[in-house]
Amino acid sequence: MADIIKNSDHRARLIDGKAGAAAVDAAAKSAAEALAVPLGRAAALAVVLVGDDPASQVYVRNKIRRTEAASMTSIEHRLPADTTREALLALVDQLNRDDGVDGILVQLPLPDHLDATEIVEAIDPAKDVDGLTAKSAGALVQGSKGLRPCTPSGCVWLARQALGDLTGKSVVVIGRSILVGKPAALLFLEANCTVTLAHSRTADLPAVCAEADILVPAVGRPEMVRGHWIKPGATIIDVGINRIDAGDGKSRLVGDVHFGEAVKIADFITPVPGGVGPMTIAMLLANTCVAAAARAGLETPKILQALEIA
Ligand code: GUN
Repeated sequence: MADIIKNSDHRARLIDGKAGAAAVDAAAKSAAEALAVPLGRAAALAVVLVGDDPASQVYVRNKIRRTEAASMTSIEHRLPADTTREALLALVDQLNRDDGVDGILVQLPLPDHLDATEIVEAIDPAKDVDGLTAKSAGALVQGSKGLRPCTPSGCVWLARQALGDLTGKSVVVIGRSILVGKPAALLFLEANCTVTLAHSRTADLPAVCAEADILVPAVGRPEMVRGHWIKPGATIIDVGINRIDAGDGKSRLVGDVHFGEAVKIADFITPVPGGVGPMTIAMLLANTCVAAAARAGLETPKILQALEIA
């Protein structure tokens, strides 16, 4: 495995999400190849993209490339932005019934006229590789078996690469979204952390953040978390990916954390880009193998168990 933890010129070491994702992709590939024997086919991930949101297009292209590179079948459904609720529900139903499909992902956000909650809820929980249905969310709350959301799983996995066992760590997650903040809080709780879920109405957010051994901002506000908010020696798992004006007509990507300040104070930090971002698809591939195995009545492939992904 390539080194995931890398030295920098400052105090903090970098947690390399590209290297982490490559390691998880490789494990998913081994798992998929092992599963292909009893399944008699490759595990298959179906992606549904409605409309032409540019960020979603890039994301879906990457998903397809990495699914195929991991020896799995990628199935794409690209629908126009004016797709009706009925047509989309009919497609989800068709994918639910298709025995050759192990995972279904409906790319978010959906166009405004579609109710994302209703569409996601139509996905068979056994194929819910995004971990977003009420059944998957309920299993996470209960601590029972189920598919876990990908980006939050990636956050916990990266934190473990830096720190090992997370038991007893204080974690502050900022942001209470269904996609990241809420499930991240529950996953860190599952890892025996003491978790605070902070949000836009939290009183004295800098003081709350200063208590965190592990700080996980997921709000989409460029460089909101400043150096003096960070406890010396903390681990920063920055979920934010924000495009800002870099002057001279160019733009650049920054996280929710002011990296230049944080890197002098934290012990470990994820860069943006190349931190949490690449982990989402890696966990999606791992989840697709977990779903394929479970649907066939097989045990989760050992290599994924060993990586503590599932
Ligand atoms: N859009 C951005 N991230 C995600 C994700 O993890 N899952 C889905 N379905 N859509 C997304």
